[in-house]
Amino acid sequence: MNIQSLLSDKVSQALTAAGAPVASEAQVRQSAKAQFGDYQANGVMSVAKKLGIPPRQLAETVVSLLDLDGIAQKIDIAGPGFINIFLDPAWLALQVDAALDSPRLNITPVIPQTIVVDYSAPNVAKEMHVGHLRSTIIGDAAVRTLEFLGHKVIRANHVGDWGTQFGMLIAYLEKIQSRGEPEMQLSSLEEFYRAAKKTYDEDAEFAERARSYVVKLQGGDEYCRQMWRKLVDITMAQNQQVYDRLNVTLTRKDVMGESLYNDMLPGIVADLKAKGLAVESDGATVVYLEEFRTKEGEPMGVIIQKKDGAYLYTTTDIACAKYRYETLKADRVLYYIDSRQHQHLLQAWSIVRKAGYVPESVPLEHHMFGMMLGKDGKPFKTRAGGTIKLADLLDEALERARRLIAEKNPDMPAEELETLARVVGIGAVKYADLSKSRTTDYIFDWDNMLAFEGNTAPYMQYAYTRVASVFKRSGLDERQLTAPVRLEAEQETLLAARLLQFEEAITVLARDGTPHVMCSYLYDLAGLFSSFYEHCPILTAEHNDILQSRLKLALLTSRTLKQGLEMLGIQTVERM
Ligand code: ARG
Repeated sequence: MNIQSLLSDKVSQALTAAGAPVASEAQVRQSAKAQFGDYQANGVMSVAKKLGIPPRQLAETVVSLLDLDGIAQKIDIAGPGFINIFLDPAWLALQVDAALDSPRLNITPVIPQTIVVDYSAPNVAKEMHVGHLRSTIIGDAAVRTLEFLGHKVIRANHVGDWGTQFGMLIAYLEKIQSRGEPEMQLSSLEEFYRAAKKTYDEDAEFAERARSYVVKLQGGDEYCRQMWRKLVDITMAQNQQVYDRLNVTLTRKDVMGESLYNDMLPGIVADLKAKGLAVESDGATVVYLEEFRTKEGEPMGVIIQKKDGAYLYTTTDIACAKYRYETLKADRVLYYIDSRQHQHLLQAWSIVRKAGYVPESVPLEHHMFGMMLGKDGKPFKTRAGGTIKLADLLDEALERARRLIAEKNPDMPAEELETLARVVGIGAVKYADLSKSRTTDYIFDWDNMLAFEGNTAPYMQYAYTRVASVFKRSGLDERQLTAPVRLEAEQETLLAARLLQFEEAITVLARDGTPHVMCSYLYDLAGLFSSFYEHCPILTAEHNDILQSRLKLALLTSRTLKQGLEMLGIQTVERM
């Protein structure tokens, strides 16, 4: 049930019947204040202007034509022509029952699309660091949400697995192997990378070999391919551990690294030249884009092939967009990449559109995000100034959660403590990120994210256990709840209305890729449940029908919280 779109349709019909042009916007939104009803329609003013009639007069006509029988209890006109809609508690009660009877909380089925989601994208022979955290968990929340709605989602892990550095890495892997050192050395990938680079800089013979390996690798040489694959495998096996710990749904089969597009690149460059989009400039191949200007005001040149024949990151992203449309049959492509790469993507896509590789009807969307900052407001680093490895960050989260939970529950059995520490610790790191608007930078603060108060994972997880326990304490089975939902107290009606707005939160998250909208929704829901719980006795209700009705509200609240958190990739427990 999507109340917002139901009301939108109804108000649009009334607007049309009142003489408005067909595509007029009803502009229905949730009201910010109870005095303005549950929803308000704000479209009358702009339509009245177009029609040249007083807005209040149009509002009156629209209201007289608005058919909300059985749905709304009252419709008011406020101010210059706002229409305030007060939903009928009896109707809300029916919808709560319908949601409980439906396996998917009565969420409206969508027309399934094929949606490619580009996220995580770590680099080979480098460890994942905090910079990859945001892409990984925000992208995964979007993926889970789109799949829940019924879309076909293709996870595309655009791993950095190609480039000239691989000659050096292969040569160094070979060196380690020839010394008979165990490959486990690679468990510290950063160190491996650094040592390879150092050897490359200091040892001319090694550097020579490295360069020859680049050429061989690109030429498809079997030995180099094999060594390269080993590097990818070792890296991705380590990253998989991080994904699993993070409860992220990515697996090995989602890897679609840069190398996948390598064979397409010569053809792309030739085609862009043939189409007159790319030109030679000082031996390099360049596309000049009118819509991007240099400081001097000249059209900006985007290099797609260097003088030495090498292709660039942009060339790969051009091929990649083409592949996602042509081969993967994407209807929509989402990119979870930090905001510093925005211009890069816009340039690649501008070329993609001009070349006709992806039609305008298929959106390419950059769901960008800001940086993680330390408490000092500077980029989040180790005390020594190094990048923070994701694995270390998760270790610390576990450690802190373990201490916190042990303090609160000194007698908790060790095994339960471990599970809870994992659920709360990892949940806290993820939720702290997901609950902030993704477009801005945010301050990473352990104390805030692990607080049991406020919009945090521990608070939400605890709220879930409280709601779930109400039902358990009743000793009743769901099937015994045969009395219909009745909404009498204000707290009951407010809770019911919010429960039925779950789909609206899902829809926004699916459209904009903004998990914080879901976090705010769930947080608000938990708050409304608390006040309902305070004002409306459940287990001691004066009448069995009331007891059942209130238990149903608790049941739908617990299902909604669990489903919402699951969509965010946040786990819940039954007891904490
Ligand atoms: N590997 C890149 C990095 O670590 C991110 C790749 C994002 N995806 C893309 N299609 N460019 O910065």
